Amino acid sequence: MAVRQNTTWKNFLSPMVRFLIDEDKWRRYADSIDWEKQSDRFRRSDIIVPLYYSSQNFHGIEGGYLNPEVAVSYDPVTQYLLPPHETLVRQALIDAVKVHPRRILDLGCGTGSTTLMLKQAFPQAEVIGLDLSPYMLVRAEDKAQSAGLEILWRHGNAETTNFQNAAFDLVTASLLFHEIPNTVSQAILRESFRLLVAGGQILILDGNQKTLRQFEWLNDIFEEPYIREYAAGNLDASMGAAGFEAVRTQDVWWINQVTSGVKPIPVTDVTAQKKRQQYTPRSIDSTIDNNDLEGLGSPVFGIRA
Ligand SMILES: C[S@@+](CC[C@H](N)C(=O)[O-])C[C@H]1O[C@@H](n2cnc3c(N)ncnc32)[C@H](O)[C@@H]1O
Repeated sequence: MAVRQNTTWKNFLSPMVRFLIDEDKWRRYADSIDWEKQSDRFRRSDIIVPLYYSSQNFHGIEGGYLNPEVAVSYDPVTQYLLPPHETLVRQALIDAVKVHPRRILDLGCGTGSTTLMLKQAFPQAEVIGLDLSPYMLVRAEDKAQSAGLEILWRHGNAETTNFQNAAFDLVTASLLFHEIPNTVSQAILRESFRLLVAGGQILILDGNQKTLRQFEWLNDIFEEPYIREYAAGNLDASMGAAGFEAVRTQDVWWINQVTSGVKPIPVTDVTAQKKRQQYTPRSIDSTIDNNDLEGLGSPVFGIRA
């Protein structure tokens, strides 16, 4: 696929955002880090970088997320791309959590902005952020350390994570789906289904598909190679096709949306859960010491108000 030239982003928005951000500050930050050495701590030799990812510029940066420049410029730029306010938009995903998560996986975590908020909201949970770019993970780890948050950062492809079946009770992805082809989204949804316990929840925060369809020109603004494909799709239907139930999308302001789905609980498990609930006093299990949550029962039974 050819890299697009003369986008509105390149010609107009990028210079404007560059004017708004303190470039010197970020340049000093970039220079203070040995990106190759630090990223090597995360880089895994068994990860095969897919072509859709390595062949594209994202937001006009050559090499996309495989260029450490993105890890530095991502946060200062993104704050201007999530109206009315970045934190409010990300908070919509946190507010949509309906389970008591004990183990959370944030796919395509990038510099970890949502991952940090998840850990703050659910301090007892083990939180893992996974991304294909080891440079983004360097920045994410730095942010978590500054905030005093213990989060695990993992280099990996969200399509095939290598985590065990039913290892998580909450899987999230923010601003990932508009940046990947629909076939990849579908693979990530299937992988998320595999990773969740029965009753576990998936939450996807991203651009509002309805709005993007209605206002075509929005798709041209940023250098986003797969955004048209994303806008034409229907995340509710994709989640349904991956096996999720209780799928719902809610608008987040006008420009974003959060989609939630639940991995169904087999009928026999529901009966067993009800019995367990009747006879066992409920305690909050906050220490997860293995990869398998299946024995812990469904998080849906600890549903949040
Ligand atoms: C737009 S950023 C979003 C980052 C972060 N979630 C946020 O909300 O700011 C998209 C991220 O997805 C990552 N990514 C893209 N495809 C991926 C894949 N197949 N597996 C894991 N990460 C992926 C990119 O490296 C990038 O960090």
